[in-house]
Amino acid sequence: TYAIIEKKSEVTPLLNLNSIDERKKAAGEKAAEFIMDGMTIGLGSGSTVYWLLKKLGELVEQGLTIKGIPTSLQTEDWAKEFNIPLTDFSQVDCLDIAIDGADEIDNNFNLIKGGGGALLREKLVGANAKKLIIIADESKMVTTLGGFPLPIEVVPFGWEVTAKRIALLGATLHLRKREEKVFVTNNGNYILDCQFQTIPNPEELHNQLKLLLGVVETGLFIGMTNTIIIGGEGEVKVLNK
Ligand code: 5RP
Repeated sequence: TYAIIEKKSEVTPLLNLNSIDERKKAAGEKAAEFIMDGMTIGLGSGSTVYWLLKKLGELVEQGLTIKGIPTSLQTEDWAKEFNIPLTDFSQVDCLDIAIDGADEIDNNFNLIKGGGGALLREKLVGANAKKLIIIADESKMVTTLGGFPLPIEVVPFGWEVTAKRIALLGATLHLRKREEKVFVTNNGNYILDCQFQTIPNPEELHNQLKLLLGVVETGLFIGMTNTIIIGGEGEVKVLNK
């Protein structure tokens, strides 16, 4: 077991973080500082997590012993490329930590996730970790959620009627496509990208959506994280609630 020490918010200043990618890299690398020898880690998805994985690969090469559960096939591929040992929930009941990206983060540390379509596995992994750390560049911080269209994973059968029910809750939405083909998640489902005008009460909306037949999971992550690592202009901030 590990005692994960909650520190007050901390800022590492004077870095040359000009591009979004440099800020993502700085956040991803900072998160690696939370990893201790012997930990099992939930490995999130997305371009910020890529930098975490690359750093973890370097640490593994230097002798760090860890195991990860990936939240997407893309993350699994990257983890293999960086020689990070993998495991799964047949071997592990509870992860020591999970680290993941986000598409939007509000003032209460509620999140929109699923821009990469991995929200279901990300939520399963985050919910089964002792601590979930979110890494992002500062463009993801918002006052109120909803600027980023909310991804909702739905079963393919009857997705059209599920979409109509979601629209009645005030969303304009579309079925996610990639290169003109319907995007299929790693779980064989579809994603509806749902633009609500704004999401002032994410918990209420999540609960309403979850009652709709055909909805598998929403990209609203409510109260799941207390620590956010933000790469900003010239600094990396570790924000604790
Ligand atoms: C994938 C996710 C990602 O974590 C989210 O889209 C952030 O991605 P990036 O780090 O590339 O900005 O939720 O489903």
